[in-house]
Amino acid sequence: MAQQIDWSTLGFGYRKAPYNVRCTFQNGAWGELRVSESEEVTMHMAATVLHYGQAGFEGLKAFRGKDGKIRVFRMDENAKRMQNTCRTILMQPLPDGLFEEAIKKVVKLNEDLVPPYETGCSMYIRPVLFGTGPQVGVNPADQYEFIVFVMPVGPYFKDGFKATPCCIMRGYDRAAPLGTGRVKVGGNYAASLASGVLAHQKGYSAVIYLDARSKKFIDECGPANFFGIKGDRYVTPESESILPSITNMSIQQVAKDLGLKIEIRPMPVEELAYLDEAAMCGTAAVIAPINRIDDLDDNKVYTILPDHKPGPVCTKLYETLRGIQYGDIEDTHNWVTVIE
Ligand code: PLP
Ligand code: COI
Repeated sequence: MAQQIDWSTLGFGYRKAPYNVRCTFQNGAWGELRVSESEEVTMHMAATVLHYGQAGFEGLKAFRGKDGKIRVFRMDENAKRMQNTCRTILMQPLPDGLFEEAIKKVVKLNEDLVPPYETGCSMYIRPVLFGTGPQVGVNPADQYEFIVFVMPVGPYFKDGFKATPCCIMRGYDRAAPLGTGRVKVGGNYAASLASGVLAHQKGYSAVIYLDARSKKFIDECGPANFFGIKGDRYVTPESESILPSITNMSIQQVAKDLGLKIEIRPMPVEELAYLDEAAMCGTAAVIAPINRIDDLDDNKVYTILPDHKPGPVCTKLYETLRGIQYGDIEDTHNWVTVIE
């Protein structure tokens, strides 16, 4: 199956894998992990996921090394974040260890679909948990489904590690300050669709959302966090409405290891004028350098990389992160799990 894939043109999209794994919460308890070959889900028409958006998901990756081994990156962090998502929107959290067990199982079952090392591609792992129990009053479900499926993927932004432009559109918010921006619920992505599509139509890779309260500070970019580099400082926004990115957390550690100073604090929009480099970061996006940011309502243009080439610091961070993920660089922080 993997042999039929043209890795050089593989983008980031759904592709059927032979197996997924599932677990159901009903009658007050989570059941056993099951293996499924179906891509379908059957549920009650009054399931809370359909009406009240009771759904959360995760995204993580598996990489094949030069040594042929398969490494999954920081799945313990994704497990913790999914528990947090469950607690926030009153879904039934998973029993300890079940998330990790499901990831290991689904990757092993589909190991032929983990792309070869030389391709630079990876396996994207998508865990999703949602309310299937019926409710018409606005209440949490009493039944949940947890599914993990996988697919081989190429770069999220089609050019890979190339610098691309982003825009600021003040007419749209992704998440409210005391809302659900800090967790990975489906509704946050529904809220970002219209602005995201508009930005793509205008030729931008992503929208940089500002904090909804004051519109003065940078929150995050589409499906990724934002960071900037100024001299020897790595600066990334502190905000009550952004998703704590595991990639961002990892790059901060890599940056620290490389001798950079880390600043996590509110970032005023005007600071964009002074950055040496800027990028989006996330599991799908990895590190995606930004060459220009257009503030469409203020008619301002922030040119970050006049020659459109990724800057030296982002390049070093990208190479180091990828090196650890593919097993080329020693995993001194214990971030990877080898799938046996
Ligand atoms: N912010 C948003 C809104 C996201 O959807 C993602 C993707 O998961 C990220 C940030 C990056 O998070 P991570 O690095 O954990 O993938
Ligand atoms: C990820 O990076 O894993 C994400 O969840 C982004 C996604 C919405 C494509």
